[in-house]
Amino acid sequence: MNDSTKVALVTGANRGLGLEIARQLARSGFRVLLGARREEDARRAALDFGEGGLVPLALDVTAPPSDLAARIRAEQGRLDVLVNNAGVYQAGGAPDGQGAGSVLEVDPEAVRATLEVNALGPLALAQKLAPLLRASDDGRIVNVSSGMAQLAHLGSDSTAYRISKVALNALTLQLHAALSPRVKVFAACPGWVRTDMGGPAAPKSVAEGADTPVWLATSPEPRSGGFYQERRLLSW
Ligand SMILES: NC(=O)c1ccc[n+]([C@@H]2O[C@H](COP(=O)([O-])OP(=O)(O)OC[C@H]3O[C@@H](n4cnc5c(N)ncnc54)[C@H](OP(=O)(O)O)[C@@H]3O)[C@@H](O)[C@H]2O)c1
Repeated sequence: MNDSTKVALVTGANRGLGLEIARQLARSGFRVLLGARREEDARRAALDFGEGGLVPLALDVTAPPSDLAARIRAEQGRLDVLVNNAGVYQAGGAPDGQGAGSVLEVDPEAVRATLEVNALGPLALAQKLAPLLRASDDGRIVNVSSGMAQLAHLGSDSTAYRISKVALNALTLQLHAALSPRVKVFAACPGWVRTDMGGPAAPKSVAEGADTPVWLATSPEPRSGGFYQERRLLSW
């Protein structure tokens, strides 16, 4: 193991944007812990890549193991980047934007379940992994958020998802206040991307969607505490 190799953890990386972010980071020289809820999914995704650099890690973000940081320290020696990518659109059967997904009809349990994955998972991981990230010379947290969280355009639909991503954006600012300048903290909107979540009509490929999160994980340019889309600042 080369001790100078940077280490990143990407959650929800067995498919979609997370897998592409993990692949791009591996290609740029990181050793990447490929997080997936099921161990077999993590193994398969790492094997399928075929270029090396991906290390499977069973990780349900709603129940991270208490010894996660100790294991990463023991097995990898360091952690430089955490990408909180794992996400659900509307957990617990809130089907779509209008109707059952809207603010007057959504089941509060669906909101709770969506918050668990999209906001409380990143909070728990940031708390557990902050000491490792602080020990890095260039520690970073990239929270994969959504333009659907922009406060000026919240509307009344997709309530579980929008509230969860607003919470993730708030977490981004609080982590920035707590950890910057030692650790940079960003929120990123990947745009509308062709994944299981985005659907086949989305205009962006996974490679295009992964671009800004990977740039935030690697470039010296972006400012900690910002919300970015297409490498540009987005208003909260
Ligand atoms: N696609 C878009 O247009 C779009 C737009 C804006 C923002 N985003 C955001 O981008 C991120 C990735 O989205 P995507 O489009 O790639 O979605 P996706 O194709 O549905 O993939 C979601 C990933 O999250 C994982 N995940 C869900 N719950 C998890 C948990 N409790 N623990 C660990 N992993 C979990 C899934 O794992 P399983 O396979 O086990 O279910 C899967 O790997 C999300 O945060 C999403 O909100 C996407």
